[in-house]
Amino acid sequence: MFDNVSYDGHEQVLHVQDTHSGLRAIVALHSTSLGPAGGGCRLWSYKDPRAALVDALRLSRGMSYKNALAGLKMGGGKAVVLGPVPADARLAVFEALGDAVDRLGGRYVTAEDVGVTVGDMKVVASRTKYVSGLSGEGGAGGDPSPYTAKGVRMAMEAVALHRLDAPALEGLRIAVQGLGGVGGNLCRELAERGASLIVADVDTERVERICDEYHAERTDVETVLLSDADIVAPCALGGVLSEDVVPKLRARAVVGGANNQLLSSAAGRMLFDRQITYAPDYLVNAGGIIMVAAEYFGTNSEERVHADIERIFDRTVEVLTRSRQYGLPADVVADQMAADAIARART
Ligand code: NAI
Repeated sequence: MFDNVSYDGHEQVLHVQDTHSGLRAIVALHSTSLGPAGGGCRLWSYKDPRAALVDALRLSRGMSYKNALAGLKMGGGKAVVLGPVPADARLAVFEALGDAVDRLGGRYVTAEDVGVTVGDMKVVASRTKYVSGLSGEGGAGGDPSPYTAKGVRMAMEAVALHRLDAPALEGLRIAVQGLGGVGGNLCRELAERGASLIVADVDTERVERICDEYHAERTDVETVLLSDADIVAPCALGGVLSEDVVPKLRARAVVGGANNQLLSSAAGRMLFDRQITYAPDYLVNAGGIIMVAAEYFGTNSEERVHADIERIFDRTVEVLTRSRQYGLPADVVADQMAADAIARART
């Protein structure tokens, strides 16, 4: 395990098995230097347990960086449940997961991620208090995607002002790939501010709805990122910025909500060399975790959560300024800033 390429000095990696429910899970705690390791629980059918371990290691490190850069008092962690989970075992599986989280005594705080619902987290919450993303009674909470979309819009405003010489988003052409929770809410945010939209999704009903509501122009899922737009916003899949795609981009900036947009660091370098502004994904898409953390710590008044998300504007400016100053790609600068914040907390 210590030779695994995705192992990055993780503090603790727990393999969980519960023979009664059939639960098999891996909980990876990358760092608790800044606070309890925060990060969602993913349910996925991996090709083998090794792939699940790699995912847990990479995702938990990503959460450490995201939480550090967002200024949260949270470290980074992630749980992955090895699927498939039969429908009649789901309740027992998430109860057993709750027990496993509870045994960590607060070093890990879980929430929803891909394949896991608010209902599943309510089951986890019946066994442990170290869980968030439940309801938001009395403040911000529940579905994080509108909060994530707001953060993406703040980062776009920063990029527009500082790199595109545009005082606002009004009149800019913005292409959005993926119109789910994040992409759909982002279209609303952008349309409200007078941007014109080009959109694509594999789900044609979603495309219809967004085109109707916001007078968006539709395009193909294969070419949406290559649109003749000011900004492109990947809000579906990771790995979309490859060394093949970057040379074909026509936009002046990439600012989107999807996780892990860069397929390689070489693609990040190519963006920089082509003078296409890239706002690092985990900086831009932190709105959801900012809300989830506030819900956990009980500081989730709507006003305060929105003010915290609005700080993504200044952080984006800071990363882009340093990128230019040091002659380094923005993703490298963001990684360094996050790693420094974690190291400072450790010492
Ligand atoms: P979602 O599942 O609600 O939406 C994803 C959308 O992408 C769906 O409409 C789907 O049909 C579409 N899609 C799938 N493949 C596509 C393709 N090849 N081309 C175009 N569209 C395609 O997911 P959600 O929550 O909106 O998340 C989107 C991305 O943002 C993911 O990468 C997720 O990890 C990331 N993210 C989400 C956060 C949240 O608060 N929901 C927080 C941080 C990151």
